[in-house]
Amino acid sequence: MPETRIISLSPDHPEPQVIRHAAAVLRSGGLVAFPTETVYGLGADAFNERAVRRIFEVKGRPADNPLIVHIASYGQLADLTDELPPAGEKLARSFWPGPLTLVVHGSEGIPDVVTAGLDTVAVRMPDNAVTLELIRELGSPIVGPSANLSGRPSPTAARHVYDDLNGKIDLILDAGPARIGVESTVIDVTSDPPVILRFGGLTRERIERCVGPVLDGGSDDRGRRSPGTRHRHYAPRAQVILVDRGDAQTFERLFRLHSAAGKKVGFIVHSIALPPTVPCDAGTSVTQGVEQYTRLLFRLMREMDARKADVLLVERVEETGLGRAVMDRLVRAARGSAPEQA
Ligand code: TXA
Ligand code: MG
Repeated sequence: MPETRIISLSPDHPEPQVIRHAAAVLRSGGLVAFPTETVYGLGADAFNERAVRRIFEVKGRPADNPLIVHIASYGQLADLTDELPPAGEKLARSFWPGPLTLVVHGSEGIPDVVTAGLDTVAVRMPDNAVTLELIRELGSPIVGPSANLSGRPSPTAARHVYDDLNGKIDLILDAGPARIGVESTVIDVTSDPPVILRFGGLTRERIERCVGPVLDGGSDDRGRRSPGTRHRHYAPRAQVILVDRGDAQTFERLFRLHSAAGKKVGFIVHSIALPPTVPCDAGTSVTQGVEQYTRLLFRLMREMDARKADVLLVERVEETGLGRAVMDRLVRAARGSAPEQA
């Protein structure tokens, strides 16, 4: 396939002719990367099985990992499920469009390739005018995993999609950097209380203020998780080592140790003040709170890879609010990249 084209659109008032073009590409079975508030997605018409299968191929994604179906209206939700439980209804009304994915009982007509054969389906209404317009123009929901190669950090800008998938997909719609920077929160509302299967851009605290206590799929005794969270994920090529909050001493020791071993060391910190022995341009201090840390995390991981860092020292964040989603990705990245735990 030739070089993949990137087309920029106005994030608030997307150009209709571009939307029509992108919808035509999807209609003919093509793959179009689309912007959302969380991360960029790789889109195909949800009811075109061949196109959906191509998504798995180009990403190198295991076939047992089901996809999220993106909708633009409640009418489209009715095509995907016959029953929306009360908690799901409340959450959708409160947080859609937004960084929330609901796992519900799936209708008969949904292709197996979308749900990996499960009897549930994951649905979300993304908060992005470009993508909502695209779905409306197509007249059909679009499936969309994050538009990265499987195992790589999710893309938070069109450029990241290009770097991973150039020549493998038909079109990239560029509406600027993603506002949130981590994927949506996935919550199973088929059980009562609902179970969070993946922590993401909508915090547990906000969910519980809406529907009361929910379970943590990672720590409840059934140990239920989204299939996708079992796979290696979110990892830069560099070895990720986590440093406790504020622990400048360990940070400095590790920086010196790995540098002395001839490794190129990078860092992402937020509260640790850089010791004089650590050059400030070896990494980034993200000092404006957890939202900024969340927004920049995947981008900084990719930048460290571009700079050929061997080791990436990352300061932990507090595991409340968005911090839970950040730590979830960091722990996975550290586990995936530590040689002794490979
Ligand atoms: O923010 C997001 O959610 C982004 C944007 C593009 O919308 N999408 C995204 O998709 O992160 P993906 O494919 O990278 O992650 C989807 C997650 C996976 O962990 C998958 O296993 C889970 O959702 N999932 C999908 N269908 C499911 C189902 N029926 N039951 C349980 N988990 C499901
Ligand atoms: Mg993903």
